[in-house]
Amino acid sequence: MQAVFYEAFGGADVLKLGELARPEPAPGEVLIRIHATSVNPIDWKIRQGLFECVFDHAFPVIPGWDAAGEIAALGPGVDEFSIGDAVYAYCRKAVAHDGTYADYIAMPAAAVAPKPEGLSFQEAAAIPLCGLTAWQSLKAFAGLRPGQTVLIHAGAGGVGSLAIPIARHLGAKVLTTCSAQNRDYCAGLGADHVIDYRAGDYREAVRALAPDGLDMVFDCVGGAIPDESVDLIRPGGALACLNEAPDEAVAEARGIRASRIYAEPSGDGLRALTALVDAGVLRAPETRVFPLADARRAHELSEAGHVRGKLILTVANGEA
Ligand SMILES: NC(=O)c1ccc[n+]([C@@H]2O[C@H](COP(=O)([O-])OP(=O)(O)OC[C@H]3O[C@@H](n4cnc5c(N)ncnc54)[C@H](OP(=O)(O)O)[C@@H]3O)[C@@H](O)[C@H]2O)c1
Repeated sequence: MQAVFYEAFGGADVLKLGELARPEPAPGEVLIRIHATSVNPIDWKIRQGLFECVFDHAFPVIPGWDAAGEIAALGPGVDEFSIGDAVYAYCRKAVAHDGTYADYIAMPAAAVAPKPEGLSFQEAAAIPLCGLTAWQSLKAFAGLRPGQTVLIHAGAGGVGSLAIPIARHLGAKVLTTCSAQNRDYCAGLGADHVIDYRAGDYREAVRALAPDGLDMVFDCVGGAIPDESVDLIRPGGALACLNEAPDEAVAEARGIRASRIYAEPSGDGLRALTALVDAGVLRAPETRVFPLADARRAHELSEAGHVRGKLILTVANGEA
């Protein structure tokens, strides 16, 4: 099968397009013929070797953890899918080796769900990793509920683009940070207040908008934000961080539940997101589409840190 892969850690120039063996589905697995995948920052962080201590790897590494495609084969014991079903999946595995920048991937059936009918494969590929991250942070971890106020950092990114409508659906008032050129995009996603993080100290705007404190901060940026957040959240609130871990002891002393979130693959979680898409609550983020052969260019754009929405890679056997 055709795949983009690398045989040593390094810059985007280690990515190459070539032929690798097609995987076979093991018991309990399905083989997905991939039509579209997406670029997530974790793809180039692993490629750079930054996660060597977190994930085992086996070269050649095919990057990519998002897939939208169709069922091409069933492993023994799988009866909930049929050949040809349109599906999507968050394809994180314990070992970085067989990712989704490829024609095929074998995945446990429990991590796969029917693709939302109203989305193209390219649109659906934008959702699994980022949507599950947002869903597991806002609903499962924080238990966000009507009347609460959440601050979502990086509202214009892949996770933020899905977190804003999910938080609104859960009934929360949404404050979000982005730069000036993404103000209208974040407002269009449903944010109640958009804060330009480059225009001054975002904390002043937050204190003016939520004088009694926030119920949750969802930190999709990192750096100083975990520490800064503790002063903005009221006792009983929650802090979910995707990069730097919060100081849980400091947070606990102030009555705040704090955690670094690691999004988990989940077919059931994807079915919940599909229901939100079907109900018109969730739509695909803005996408910019590249052929798989241009993965290097897409990685360079993602590394620059200012993608709006999602970068999508179409796989040669997929939709035009
Ligand atoms: N732990 C997990 O399970 C998990 C899951 C998903 C993602 N992550 C991590 O979470 C982070 C976000 O992921 P993503 O997919 O949303 O990334 P992304 O799509 O690459 O995010 C790009 C966005 O970040 C915004 N941004 C950059 N610096 C900012 C700042 N200081 N304040 C506010 N916004 C800022 C940019 O907006 P402007 O152009 O307007 O600045 C841009 O729209 C990444 O580091 C990723 O690796 C972790």
